[in-house]
Amino acid sequence: LSEADILIVGAGFYGATLAERIATQLGRRVLVIDRRRHIGGNAYTEEDPATGVEIHRYGPHLFHTSNEEVWNYLRGFTGFTAYRHRAFSTYRDKVYPLPINLATICQFFGKRLSPDEARGMITGQAAELGDRPPANLEEKAISLVGRPLYEAFIKGYTAKQWQTDPRELPAQIIARLPVRYTFEDGYFNDRFQGQPVDGYTAIFEKMLAHELIETRLGVDFFDIKPLLPKDLPVVYTGPIDRYFDYSEGELGWRTIDIDLEVMDTPDHQGTAIMNYADETVPYTRVVEFRHFNPERQHKSDKTLIGREYSRFAGRADEPYYPIDTRRDQAVYRRYLERAAAEKNLHLGGRLGTYRYLDMHQAIGAALKAFETVLEPYFTGKLDSV
Ligand code: FDA
Repeated sequence: LSEADILIVGAGFYGATLAERIATQLGRRVLVIDRRRHIGGNAYTEEDPATGVEIHRYGPHLFHTSNEEVWNYLRGFTGFTAYRHRAFSTYRDKVYPLPINLATICQFFGKRLSPDEARGMITGQAAELGDRPPANLEEKAISLVGRPLYEAFIKGYTAKQWQTDPRELPAQIIARLPVRYTFEDGYFNDRFQGQPVDGYTAIFEKMLAHELIETRLGVDFFDIKPLLPKDLPVVYTGPIDRYFDYSEGELGWRTIDIDLEVMDTPDHQGTAIMNYADETVPYTRVVEFRHFNPERQHKSDKTLIGREYSRFAGRADEPYYPIDTRRDQAVYRRYLERAAAEKNLHLGGRLGTYRYLDMHQAIGAALKAFETVLEPYFTGKLDSV
């Protein structure tokens, strides 16, 4: 520990990107710790022993970005497959493509519609509220896609996700709902997409494989904090409220329980992710992991699926999605003020900044922090991280 120039708490994309940059570009010694027994943060994947399928332990991860700098950076550690994500939703025993597009609309209303006809119909249905501003999530969604599509694809799904009636949820949870008036059914619009050829964990193994980086797993920052040299700079990517011992209050998160099951068939649902829109089905989605890698020869005649259940997170749960109420925002601001007053502390990543970040955003934010904070610090232009 005494030899490290910097401590990085968390071996997810934010921490691993900074560790890699600091070691390779600045020649400094980095100690990376993670309280989990593996690297990769929430993007961690491993082989399932029963089926040989690559399982995404903390929920399905699909790489997509339009940020060329991030794409080029990541390709230094992995190749990408040609995987393009498509998603589907089951509603009342029928299957529809997502996001809502012309195929969904034609199928749902049972007729052939041109793009103009579909747009005209949905705009008419969405005008239900007139000039009155939406008072809750339900009204907001109706003002965007009309009542019939809302009731089929959004109402039950949202109620399950939030364990709350959409009429009780604030309108600002949704800013927009994508509706495409074409038959384009690719899930992401981004320029660069694909899955890492050897899985996500292999990316982290390469990023951290440098002689100046030491990685220690199963180590909780708060257990070693009292032993740290006073002036050692720390990059902390854990929850910001935990860092300050919850002194300003707890931030709200949702989490997901994934119920795994090995199915006695080589293909359970014919696609990677199937949403279940009906409120009567208790899970929100079923993930079938082998479909993320159609290019692989899976020897097993069994397949692995995960049913996802969404709920509010307690302190002992994995925090996944920030709830971000007005109260949360006020609490977060108070933590930010306290962090600004601490010398040599840099908070980053999704937990450290209380923000949902996709992988490309976490990597992009780390590359920016390297340029604007860490490099200036190590070259003497800043006196604190
Ligand atoms: P991340 O959470 O990965 O890493 C933080 C690390 O810090 C963790 O490993 C944790 O153990 C460690 N830590 C915390 N406290 C500590 C302490 N006290 N001591 C030591 N270590 C500590 N993105 C995307 O682009 N496409 C996708 O399809 C998905 N899908 C998806 C599904 C689900 C269910 C979730 C929750 C998230 C996604 N994501 C995603 C987002 C993706 O997971 C996210 O961008 C990255 O995990 C962000 O990396 P970070 O390094 O910020 O956090």
